[in-house]
Amino acid sequence: MQGHRLFTVGGHQVALCSRPSVPAMGIFTRVLCESLCLHHRIRVIDVGCGSGIVGIYALLEGSAGVLFNDIQPEALKCVRRNLALNGLVSGCSLHCGPFADLRLDEVTAYDLIAFDPPQFPLGLDARAFAPAEAVFRSGGADGLDVVCQFLDWYQGLGSRSPVATLVLSSILGEERIYSEIIDRRALRLSVVHRCALPLRNALVEALRRRSPLDLPRLGVSSGLDGVWYKQLMVAQIRHPDRGGSSGVRSGDRGVSRVGEGPRR
Ligand SMILES: C[S@@+](CC[C@H](N)C(=O)[O-])C[C@H]1O[C@@H](n2cnc3c(N)ncnc32)[C@H](O)[C@@H]1O
Repeated sequence: MQGHRLFTVGGHQVALCSRPSVPAMGIFTRVLCESLCLHHRIRVIDVGCGSGIVGIYALLEGSAGVLFNDIQPEALKCVRRNLALNGLVSGCSLHCGPFADLRLDEVTAYDLIAFDPPQFPLGLDARAFAPAEAVFRSGGADGLDVVCQFLDWYQGLGSRSPVATLVLSSILGEERIYSEIIDRRALRLSVVHRCALPLRNALVEALRRRSPLDLPRLGVSSGLDGVWYKQLMVAQIRHPDRGGSSGVRSGDRGVSRVGEGPRR
């Protein structure tokens, strides 16, 4: 295991160790964490937890309990280490395996599911990342494979399911995202936060080759600084019959622009 690094998120300093297949902290993660409203002792499922940063952030914000879930045993090893590094010893459960294995009676003990899914569209640039990164970055040919698996599982949980909060890139196609969530699965969707994120030139070129007229539809635009940006959306999803609090900051719908960071 690599040594740990220090990150600041939402005013907390967090020590995290990672591995080649387990990311420590990227911009998607930071945006997801800072969109969550966790001070009411909300209980959280950190789906696809990787290093555990989202759940650790939740605990530092006062969350009453976190279930860390990841398909990779390596990720759960990092979570154990990272909990110890940050002095967090209680209120945690760990589940190694696909989220689809989590049963309704396990998830109803929680108020909120947070997920930064693998969502890189391999059809855009199959050589965009090293093989070790595939498990946390690849979303299949169009980027939506894992997102759709998640939506199928979530829909199957029914009206007692916790609210789910996902961070999604506009290059998946906003209309396609809405259609998968609302039209195909009859779930409710609110976009609770948006920000713009620099897109690397190779991806702009790949997008242009694939659909030259489609850049606006994919939320891609050129800034005054000459840099190309995509949009990042924090989407809150819930079953139509579910009530209760959202666990997501409200009134946060403006478009903001964040600086350079890890590119995805
Ligand atoms: C983009 S990473 C996010 C990691 C971490 N939450 C973060 O924000 O840094 C996606 C994570 O989802 C995990 N994952 C992929 N498919 C999964 C599945 N079916 N069930 C649970 N976890 C999965 C990967 O192993 C990876 O750790």
